[in-house]
Amino acid sequence: MRAKTRPIETLPELAFDYTHGIIGQSLIIHADCLEWLSRVPENTLHAIVTDPPYGVKEYDFEQIEKRANGNGGIWRIPPSFDGHTRQPLPRFTALNSKERAQIRNFFIEWSKVAMHALRPGGHVFIASNAFLSQLVFAALVDGGLEFRGELIRFVRTFRGGDRPKNAEGEFPDVSSLPRSAYEPWGILRKPIPKGMKVSDCLREFQTGGLRRTPDDRPFTDIIPSGRTPRCEKKIADHPTLKPQAFMRQLVHAVLPLGVGVVADPFMGGGSTIAAAEAIGIASVGVERYMGYYELSRQAIPKLAAIQTPEEEQPEETLLPFA
Ligand SMILES: C[S@@+](CC[C@H](N)C(=O)[O-])C[C@H]1O[C@@H](n2cnc3c(N)ncnc32)[C@H](O)[C@@H]1O
Repeated sequence: MRAKTRPIETLPELAFDYTHGIIGQSLIIHADCLEWLSRVPENTLHAIVTDPPYGVKEYDFEQIEKRANGNGGIWRIPPSFDGHTRQPLPRFTALNSKERAQIRNFFIEWSKVAMHALRPGGHVFIASNAFLSQLVFAALVDGGLEFRGELIRFVRTFRGGDRPKNAEGEFPDVSSLPRSAYEPWGILRKPIPKGMKVSDCLREFQTGGLRRTPDDRPFTDIIPSGRTPRCEKKIADHPTLKPQAFMRQLVHAVLPLGVGVVADPFMGGGSTIAAAEAIGIASVGVERYMGYYELSRQAIPKLAAIQTPEEEQPEETLLPFA
């Protein structure tokens, strides 16, 4: 049986009874995304581009307050040793096996509600980190999504690479973890209905494939990227704001025909929604924390207006097997 889909003109209806706002072609909603995704009618969204709380617990309201007050909590407040105050980072390695099981269960549940809301063939691009990606991607597959590969944001995160804690002098030539120079993003898809080819899915649901770049290259799974520019962080003071130059490439690629609705259920400061606005795509952002919802409302138009430098294309020399 063919699934029924939903016309995009009805986008504002997806706000239900939640506090929401409309910015250009985008809808922003203050809600818990697990609840929101389960309320969205089946087979509605064309794609999801999102950056979830990796450790689940760093975005608990209590932890957000601790970070704001400089008390740490799960947020590692780095020392200001050279006169520059660094952004706190979540302490992923502090997760124990019970917390890892909670993450797994969270992403299985999330995958199930995302499957419900997505159209058949709809893609999910989901940010992770090298330490947790294996756990998160496997849980998403257990929830029903199909694993289609990984996208590497080639960026120096400055995570990892430290000498063994409290034994730095004893083991000066050792690092506990590699210094991370990439951010892995999962590429997943709601399975295409049995018997359908990608071309059928494109015709019926406008999903199933990925859009080629504006200069007619295939979307490539390594994207060189800088860290988020200071001017963007000034607009949206969110601890994990993603850069516009990178997000615009993802939002462009995730809709194979350039039509439809992209959702970001963990909207944060609104970088995905701003990227969609910048390239003329309809989107829905959902954020649970009122402070960040309000932040996104004022930041999205400004981030969308930013001119990004022409993105470099990946060079063959980056590929170790060439
Ligand atoms: C890693 S951040 C996303 C940052 C975003 N990519 C940006 O550029 O600003 C994750 C966000 O998800 C929010 N969040 C956590 N759990 C949520 C939930 N269940 N529903 C909706 N938002 C949630 C957090 O408050 C946080 O702002």
